[in-house]
Amino acid sequence: MYFLTIESSCDETAAAVVTDSLDVCSSVVASQDDLHRRFGGVVPEVASRAHLEQIVPVIDEAVRRAGITLNQLGAIAVVNTPGLAGSLLVGLTAAKALALALGKPLVAINHLQAHIYACRVAFGGDVFPCVGLIVSGGHTSIYSCRSPLEFNAIGGTIDDAAGEAFDKVAAMLGLPYPGGPSIQKAAVNGNRNAIQFPRPLLDEPSRLQFSFSGLKTAVRYKLVGPGKTDFSQVTLTEKERADIAASFQEAVIDCLVGKVIHTLRVLRMKTLCVGGGVAANSRFREKMEAAAQQNNFKLYIAPPKLCTDNAVMGAIAVERFKAGLVEELDLDISAGLVRGA
Ligand code: KG4
Ligand code: ZN
Repeated sequence: MYFLTIESSCDETAAAVVTDSLDVCSSVVASQDDLHRRFGGVVPEVASRAHLEQIVPVIDEAVRRAGITLNQLGAIAVVNTPGLAGSLLVGLTAAKALALALGKPLVAINHLQAHIYACRVAFGGDVFPCVGLIVSGGHTSIYSCRSPLEFNAIGGTIDDAAGEAFDKVAAMLGLPYPGGPSIQKAAVNGNRNAIQFPRPLLDEPSRLQFSFSGLKTAVRYKLVGPGKTDFSQVTLTEKERADIAASFQEAVIDCLVGKVIHTLRVLRMKTLCVGGGVAANSRFREKMEAAAQQNNFKLYIAPPKLCTDNAVMGAIAVERFKAGLVEELDLDISAGLVRGA
């Protein structure tokens, strides 16, 4: 049976065709990075208008590449939470129209759960139960995942998401959006020990929380001094920029790695699945892999292409469909995160 999965929660319009045995028949991702770059971040209204233009060609291309026709689809699945309201609406409306016109069931996808499920798709075997860490542009969350249908939020950031901090610090350093890949690139030639940026909440193991806002402020102080926000006068040599990028990146990664090691200990769990755009970061992957070896836990991080937003991870819909979780056509979006969902 073929599932069409649709993703439009933020600034990627994506569609994929997967089978009920989790074979990936096609995957199409239309990125909007070029549209948002000059603003230094995602502009919601620009994003939803671009989704509107892309959604039909992207779905069309995914079905074409899978070598099937629309009538051969067995179900239509779509991300309806969390994300930008206008962006989610475009994907959901397209999915409903298809489900109605084709007379096929509609399945809802939670974007954060899908990021974790990317590990299941990529590794081909069962990864549950596990601790799930989502590190994206909008979320930095820890879940206890008992099964593909049971996700309980147990921790997360109290302010900025990790990806958001990457994006904002990149803008301060004059590096292009999206900030994560830019900082990773700049950091290659930098000294990660050049500046000792804070590792917020890392020394408070009883709190399963992250905080990246202060770290972002520490970078600002380094660049312009306390109380100032004008970066136009900042002049950095390539070496200085690289050192700040590498030191900042190291601080974020230390927080992420340290906290999940602690979470695994507290929950007495031995498996960690990581998803979200920041998990594409090569230094993050390197440090996470070293931590898994040292602390003896099983680590799954999907390949970079399945860490950043895509529709293949929406294959979690197969699990929901098999459990009888199909939706009525009055299904709505929910922009915010439903705790424990
Ligand atoms: O999961 P994602 O594609 O979209 C959201 O659901 O938010 O994550 C996007 C975030 C952005 O903040 C981007 O800067 C970050 O992931 N990102 C990275 C890397 N690639 C993407 N952060 C660090 N290193 C990377 N290589
Ligand atoms: Zn995402």
